Amino acid sequence: MCGIVGYLGKHDTKAILLDGLKELEYRGYDSAGIAVLQAEEFSYFKAVGKLANLEAKTADFTTSGFAAGIGHTRWATHGKPTEINAHPHLGDASYVVHNGIIENYQELKNALISEGAHFLSQTDTEVIVHLFESLLNGGLKPFDAFRETVSRLKGAYAILLVTKQMPETIFFAKHGSPMIVGVNESDEKFFGSSDAALIGKCHRVIYLEDGQLGFVSRTGIHLEDAHAAAVVPHFASLPESKLSAQKEGFRFFMEKEIYEQSEVLSDTLIGRLAEDAILFDELNPSLLEGINEIKLCACGTSYHAALASSYLFERLGKIRTSVEIASELRYKEPLLCTDTLFVVISQSGETADTLETLKMAKAAGLKTLVVCNVDNSSMVREADAAILTRAGIEKGVASTKAFATQMAVLWMFSLYVAQTKDTIDAETLRKQIGLLREVPAVVRVHDDLHERIRRLSKRYLHGHGFFFIGRDIFFPLALEGALKLKEISYLHAEGYPSGEMKHGPIALADPELFTIALMPKNLLYDKTKSNVEELSARDATICAISDVPFEKADDFIPIAAHDHYMLEFFETMVVLQLLSMEIAIRLGNDVDMPRNLAKSVTVE
Ligand code: F6R
Repeated sequence: MCGIVGYLGKHDTKAILLDGLKELEYRGYDSAGIAVLQAEEFSYFKAVGKLANLEAKTADFTTSGFAAGIGHTRWATHGKPTEINAHPHLGDASYVVHNGIIENYQELKNALISEGAHFLSQTDTEVIVHLFESLLNGGLKPFDAFRETVSRLKGAYAILLVTKQMPETIFFAKHGSPMIVGVNESDEKFFGSSDAALIGKCHRVIYLEDGQLGFVSRTGIHLEDAHAAAVVPHFASLPESKLSAQKEGFRFFMEKEIYEQSEVLSDTLIGRLAEDAILFDELNPSLLEGINEIKLCACGTSYHAALASSYLFERLGKIRTSVEIASELRYKEPLLCTDTLFVVISQSGETADTLETLKMAKAAGLKTLVVCNVDNSSMVREADAAILTRAGIEKGVASTKAFATQMAVLWMFSLYVAQTKDTIDAETLRKQIGLLREVPAVVRVHDDLHERIRRLSKRYLHGHGFFFIGRDIFFPLALEGALKLKEISYLHAEGYPSGEMKHGPIALADPELFTIALMPKNLLYDKTKSNVEELSARDATICAISDVPFEKADDFIPIAAHDHYMLEFFETMVVLQLLSMEIAIRLGNDVDMPRNLAKSVTVE
């Protein structure tokens, strides 16, 4: 997830670009850059780290008169956060900024290199500008070359490109990544990855649709669809408040992040799934040499992802796996063996306890891997290898999309282990990859589901406690459901394995005990059903989440009928997130900033 901005007009281009980038900095802050084409001359600046570094670098640069400018704030996907990898990327006489991932960049890059193109960065983005210039040199007019370039890209993108061959123009294209074009009364044109970059600068905007591309110039806006048919722009008006713009109409960042899961899961999978293999280009193939065990270690929600994935590592990866809570592992004087791969999982990459266990494992001579959402974080720098989860910045304190992407990465990694150790047959691997591809669609929130959860949430505001119960991989998901609820609603909730209820907790059963029962059809359904019936017989209030109707439930939340438990897992996850959020909203709580909590726990 990155942020891009653009401006075409006669006012202070530098100030307008930097101001827009400031609003988008939440989308990524590994590095930033701008390029301005004015009087047929380019000026460009890039800086690693926060936007303040770019501001300092451009302090003596001034813009006046008509100019075309583009800017970018980066969340690294391909290539480290260095100045070379920062956008804009340049060709001989053109600059490009891009948000998204070009899946076929390697193939395009090889072809361009064989034609003599000279690449400077490790990014996927740089192929765009070289491909454009190669088509231009081949005799195409600038916009035809741009259209042809876009038609050859696979993956997700929002692109802005400026070229000396057609000054006073900005080319744009959108597919799978957001992009908005704005116009004001003085006929200045603006671009942004979200509303926030445009508020206060213009009132009329076009929310581009996938497949659309075109250009803005002094004379207006040219817009067309993926088949080169002209499109009449549909203008909407812009919200007034910046905060609500960042939330893009959602009540809370948590809600926005739940709805974003489909998009960020696509980003997480892109480039990592071939037809019959899992690809982690970031891993050295020797990582698993001599490894006979995996130890997963984390805190909070990330610990739940560790626990859930341990079922997959043993079942699919066929490798002995253990799971540790970081704050416990630190002081238990563990026996750490060098044939163990030590895997830490962390959204922030800064959690103090998890970071310490990583150092401990390294000191004991173990190979280490981090699954993390923040590139260049302490854990990414410390571990031998890193897999980034690509969830984008998570603002809500209650983790949602980070957990979803951790699960996707860990599921892929369990298959990668099996494929590397040759313990999975080709047919099973192909099927698993097919299932992974379905996940982004499965987590998409449908209005009727959300509305149903919103309505039934009013029954669950009081009572003397919640039990979230499930079996197998749905037990860690139950733990996660209970954690979500308690951190934002302040109600007491516990996650429990369904089969354990009769060993003590069932003594609590009465109508005031709310049981959220996770009952997937494809995994131990009959066993879970018997456990839930035992609770129902003792008058506990049951809310069942299942793809099979369950008549003993007081409330029933249906999920779509899937034919694999991992798809049921991801959809049930969304239901639990929405349920806890709706209960907390009804209780009047600040869902994004619950009391006593912080987003990154850097103290022990
Ligand atoms: C709960 C939550 C926390 C974090 C935990 C670890 O919603 O967000 O439990 O999961 O503090 O944080 P990271 O993953 O950054 O190490």
